[in-house]
Amino acid sequence: MERILQYIEHNHTNFLEEIKTLLTIPSVSTKPENKPDVEHCASWLVQYLQQLGMNNVQIFPTEGHPIVYADWLNVPGKPTVLLYGHYDVQPAEPLELWTSPPFEGTVRDGNLFARGATDDKGQIFIHLSGIKAFMKNVGALPINIKMILEGEEEVGSTHLEPFIKNHKELLRADLVLISDTSMFAKGVPSICYGLRGLQYMQIDLVGPNKDLHSGSYGGSIQNPIQALAEIITKLHDKNGKVTIPGFYDDVRKLAKEERTSFKKLPWSDKKYAKELGVRSLHGEKGFTTLERLWARPTLECNGIWGGFIGDGAKTVLPSKASAKISMRLVPDQKPSKIAKLFEKYIKKISPKTVQVTVQNLHGGEPAITPIDCPGMQAAVVALEKGFGEKPLYQREGGSIPIVVKFKKLLGIDTILLGFGLPNENAHAPNEFISLDNFFNGIKTVVHFYNELPKYLNKKY
Ligand code: BES
Ligand code: ZN
Repeated sequence: MERILQYIEHNHTNFLEEIKTLLTIPSVSTKPENKPDVEHCASWLVQYLQQLGMNNVQIFPTEGHPIVYADWLNVPGKPTVLLYGHYDVQPAEPLELWTSPPFEGTVRDGNLFARGATDDKGQIFIHLSGIKAFMKNVGALPINIKMILEGEEEVGSTHLEPFIKNHKELLRADLVLISDTSMFAKGVPSICYGLRGLQYMQIDLVGPNKDLHSGSYGGSIQNPIQALAEIITKLHDKNGKVTIPGFYDDVRKLAKEERTSFKKLPWSDKKYAKELGVRSLHGEKGFTTLERLWARPTLECNGIWGGFIGDGAKTVLPSKASAKISMRLVPDQKPSKIAKLFEKYIKKISPKTVQVTVQNLHGGEPAITPIDCPGMQAAVVALEKGFGEKPLYQREGGSIPIVVKFKKLLGIDTILLGFGLPNENAHAPNEFISLDNFFNGIKTVVHFYNELPKYLNKKY
């Protein structure tokens, strides 16, 4: 291990140069015009994995973006880890808010900036660098690794579920390992054991059959923007609760022990509000901020448009208005049920003055990993060795919809070994990864691979 750790120490520049190349590829999964870039990114990874000494490296095309698979299974009798990551990224817009170009890795103040730096290319690369350290120094890994790198996580992982269903034998492993979450704070390593789910909807309103002069027509018909605004304001009550009937029916109550353990975490509402530049926090009454973020469902309007939004003034009464609304879900809410309840309620509260359509864009289930699952102890030891601190247990507000599918289809739990930080601007301009976390992350994963056989008996 000493040699491997030294290799990591001596190769910071080399690791950085390699990750920077990957970050230049704009693999934005949601934009049709970036499809060739997503494919280029998959081929880049194939080449890299082959060079790394991984075997059976292949691309599985899907109706959406390709899945990259690779494995290294040369230590029979040792545990097998299924490593999952996603190489697709969110759009970089608004571009003018980036200090350095989004698809050019730039180091400033000990951080590496670029779209995908933390979510999730940088975190994938932590593992690829860990594997490289073993391969270059001992020519082998201490465990068996199967790897799937997905190109559609940011758009709901639509084609990954059928892929898993059709390749159960290929993917069989003792546990799933994902680095696509954040640590609690800088210098405070943590293991994540819960993710929220998601249900994403769009509402489109049509009023008059064309845009109208707001002087000639204003006062005679309802403006769809006004109707939409009224609908949106009806979705929460004054206590911050979502008003959709049945929305909370399946919400698992927070256990007393869990509430106590959240309260013990080093958290300050005041500091959090200050960091975000808000004068006060807001949310569902009766719950602490961490409870609201990790264990309570929410509804957010993600975008709203309609009418004239250019420079200057235009007196128009628009024909159309739309909004994108997503709901974060917690165990045991079901995305498909929530989508139906949402649609029913929107239809009910919409005025007769407009035509309303409700679309279900995508959904993903919430997930909880038992903290005594196989491999968890190895993760605790590895984080302590990599970061010099004992990790905390935490949940997350974000979603990785495939985690539940791994459990349902392959019967295995997922360890969420995240190396991001909550303030790294994921999905926003100036995304970055802390270089300390990047390099300590590499140390942590090599320890994890090395420790795992001590804690987990190969089962399959
Ligand atoms: N890496 C995130 C998940 C995440 C978010 C973990 C926040 C920890 C904190 C992931 O890439 C992501 O953004 N997922 C989407 C999923 C959605 C599109 C189905 C999300 O949470 O919005
Ligand atoms: Zn991610």
